Amino acid sequence: MGSILVKTNLPNHLYSGKVRDTYFINDKYMIMVSTDRISAFDVVMNEAVPGKGEILNSMSTFWLEKTKHIIPNHFLGNIDDVINTKVLDMDLFKNHINKDIKSRSMIVKKAKRLDIECIVRGYIAGSAWSEYKNNNTINDKLINKKLSPAEKFDCPIFTPSTKAETGHDIPLSEKEGKNLVGHEMYEFLEKKSIEIYNFAHDFSREKGMILVDTKLEFGILNDEVLLIDELLTPDSSRYWDLDDYVVGKFPPAFDKQFLREWLLNSNWNLTYPPPKIPNKIINDTKKRYLESYKRLTS
Ligand SMILES: Nc1ncnc2c1ncn2[C@@H]1O[C@H](COP(=O)(O)OP(=O)(O)OP(=O)(O)O)[C@@H](O)[C@H]1O
Ligand SMILES: [Mg+2]
Repeated sequence: MGSILVKTNLPNHLYSGKVRDTYFINDKYMIMVSTDRISAFDVVMNEAVPGKGEILNSMSTFWLEKTKHIIPNHFLGNIDDVINTKVLDMDLFKNHINKDIKSRSMIVKKAKRLDIECIVRGYIAGSAWSEYKNNNTINDKLINKKLSPAEKFDCPIFTPSTKAETGHDIPLSEKEGKNLVGHEMYEFLEKKSIEIYNFAHDFSREKGMILVDTKLEFGILNDEVLLIDELLTPDSSRYWDLDDYVVGKFPPAFDKQFLREWLLNSNWNLTYPPPKIPNKIINDTKKRYLESYKRLTS
């Protein structure tokens, strides 16, 4: 079934999220490793999906490359590129890097992160649907039009949230967002985020996938705004299969559909610890991640 990478142990550990482990090379560059860990409902499962990290890393790399005409990003290269071209001194890591790590890693420029999650939505789903249904608002903005589940917005909307160190991110109204990063910066981030969403949405649609919504992060390096973090992966975005799409009903998420459905039917209370996931669900999940990568890149 292919190799599996759940934990990493390189020198200079900086940070571990639910899925990725980050190490610093020096004060300007970092290695980001996407492991095969998988989370659902914000909880990391005990089982991992073999090769998922490689798929996520390849997908991010693919999109970072494809969107760099819209805004420059943090990608420097993969580990082999950087070692071969000797751009950076990687001696410290030499004995720790094997092929499982290489295939799941990228080397990035370290930026000063802007503490705002730039979310763009082309269709109503997820937390935006809940807020709309309860209050007729999205990020506190009144929605005058009647919307059905999964309906496409006339134009994609920018619904940023806080980047919380712990706990859940909180949606920001336009005013709150502008107070947080400044008026001009807010408008710049909104414009660039929507441009990237539109580009990726149209590209994905040609491949039979709907990019429903996505989360982008930005940082500052040498007075320039850079796109950072993972880009347009199924972990940071919601994709639907075009074949499943009808207005009025939420299609399942392209990638985690089997896992989520299985978990919801398992009597699990959606808090740690997670239940044991059957192999079939892990295998089906792997197939879906692979399928999304293949569709996008074929
Ligand atoms: N080029 C960069 N410069 C500085 N910080 C970055 C860069 N790229 C990503 N980051 C930050 O590194 C961190 C990577 O974290 P990671 O995605 O692994 O975990 P997380 O976002 O805290 O949680 P989750 O697992 O839910 O995604 C994020 O805080 C992100 O903002
Ligand atoms: Mg993250």
